[in-house]
Amino acid sequence: MFPDGFVWGAATASFQVEGSTTADGRGRSIWDTFCARPGAVAGGDTGEPAADHYRRMSDDVRMMAELGLRAYRFSVAWPRVRAGGRVVNEAGLDFYDRLVDELLRHGIAPWPTLYHWDLPQELEDRGGWANRDTVHRFAEYADSVLGRLGDRVWNWTTFNEPWCAAFLGYAAGVHAPGRTEPRAAVAAGHHMLLAHGQGRAAIREHAPRAAAGITLNLFPVRANDPEDEADVEAARRVDALQNRFFLEPLLRGAYPPDLVADLEPFGLDEVVEDGDVARISAGTDLLGVNYYHDHNVSGRPDEGSGRPSPWVGAEHVSFPGRGLPRTDMGWEVVPEGLTELLVELHRRYPGLPLYVTENGAAYPDVVTDSGVDDVERTEFLESHLRAAHRALEQGVDLRGYFYWSLLDNFEWAEGYAKRFGLVHVDYGTQRRTPKRSAYRYARVISENVLR
Ligand code: BGC
Repeated sequence: MFPDGFVWGAATASFQVEGSTTADGRGRSIWDTFCARPGAVAGGDTGEPAADHYRRMSDDVRMMAELGLRAYRFSVAWPRVRAGGRVVNEAGLDFYDRLVDELLRHGIAPWPTLYHWDLPQELEDRGGWANRDTVHRFAEYADSVLGRLGDRVWNWTTFNEPWCAAFLGYAAGVHAPGRTEPRAAVAAGHHMLLAHGQGRAAIREHAPRAAAGITLNLFPVRANDPEDEADVEAARRVDALQNRFFLEPLLRGAYPPDLVADLEPFGLDEVVEDGDVARISAGTDLLGVNYYHDHNVSGRPDEGSGRPSPWVGAEHVSFPGRGLPRTDMGWEVVPEGLTELLVELHRRYPGLPLYVTENGAAYPDVVTDSGVDDVERTEFLESHLRAAHRALEQGVDLRGYFYWSLLDNFEWAEGYAKRFGLVHVDYGTQRRTPKRSAYRYARVISENVLR
């Protein structure tokens, strides 16, 4: 049994599902620009048509209700709400206003995220997240969204996975804006944390009774060979960059000393100003945990080395496989890593409510006359729900689970080729077909138990 009131949901993100990238005064985002760069995204795919959710939102909400979802995690597109990063666009806000109303009408709790990677291009042109000014622009944007939706949304997250946005976007260059500047990535990470503090202030002001949180992509990190010093050191650096860079200032009010030393050559101390960390750590009500797999780290380079790396200061790390089954993303399936992660977070940061805000898998689904028989995804879902339940049994304050994703969608640099949805999307006709996993999930939700 899962606890009474356990939040059962599914997640999406604006750029990945909405489409309609020029509708109703939406400005350009860094992902529109990145998609236009030859070779950046598989198949030359772009944010059009995505799952055409901007136009099919009411039908999609009805489908969520039919599946019995209790909560929907979505993100607000900054370029729709403040075109050019500055001018308020009421028509863009209207869409989220209608979405929230529609969800509430169907008894589905809205869980908006303010930033899931679609920065207005004009702000990137002025330095993007490497420029501290973007933090102030984010505060204005958060204020607009909260002013409109703050009267009826009770759970907010500011950022989705700042690690990806900063290090994949500004160091490895495999995500928008496609920069390969390690110092900019470090500055971006700090500025996103600071912007989280601003977002939380807007939430407090407009929705004093609402919970304000952040979503991080966290990984249990292990040394491939615990006897090998290079592996142990590589694992320490990966854990510092991926997990503790964000967790520690947010929840313990300080950057970890080993990280500060690792990032000294990359200017962390130059971007942190007096009072910043206090603003970052001023109260986070909930932590969203996105879990896909763990990290098995080696200190020895693999054949991919030489490309720009997201692992600033640890460019030669590699992630040897252990012969486990893999998803279509090439990620090993490690459900026990979810239990381990949740238990460890609970131990390190007691008293903090946790939500799994993303967990899911891509598989090459096939639609037949009888639907989509996604056996592997269904097993992935079951094994990870079991893993989440084991954490509950160990006393972890886990309050909800959101499957990634409700719909097949634009999988960033992988384009439309990778399908994560509970619901299959035919991008030609935009026909929705709930997969076997969706029906399985619906049963778990209605019974509040996995049997
Ligand atoms: C992101 C999603 C993404 C998913 C699968 C997470 O990192 O928040 O936007 O689609 O993982 O890659």
